[in-house]
Amino acid sequence: MIALASDHAGFEYKEKLKTLLDELHQPYRDFGPPTGARTDYPDWGHLASEAISTGQCDRGILICGTGIGMSIVANKHKGVRAAACESASAARLARQHNDANVLTLGERLTGWEAVIDIVKMFLSATFEGGRHAERVSKIHSLTKL
Ligand code: RB5
Repeated sequence: MIALASDHAGFEYKEKLKTLLDELHQPYRDFGPPTGARTDYPDWGHLASEAISTGQCDRGILICGTGIGMSIVANKHKGVRAAACESASAARLARQHNDANVLTLGERLTGWEAVIDIVKMFLSATFEGGRHAERVSKIHSLTKL
């Protein structure tokens, strides 16, 4: 189950993503907001990230203007590894090396066609494990939050 959330700056892509995820037969849950009215990304990003941290959702896609605010919010949650990606290559490496379970996108920075490639890559690329597994486990064991 993919957790979706945005703020006003990412709302249009969140809505378009639902159509894309339907086409890809990927189940999702929309954590809001329900409209494109001005709102604060932490309100929605925390909701979706909590669902990942507690295991209700296994992945997330969070969208704001830059993808940066949402990544900062998501990475405050235990067990969440969020990556702000502006290219499919970044999304591939975020999965292969970092086992990223949250993708954050910037609607003001990344065109929709690129977003389609990024999302497809994020959903299909797999974690390589091995030496990366040890590093990923240190992300959590050494976290001071
Ligand atoms: C909203 O104007 C914008 O600051 C927000 O969407 C995001 O880009 C923050 O990181």
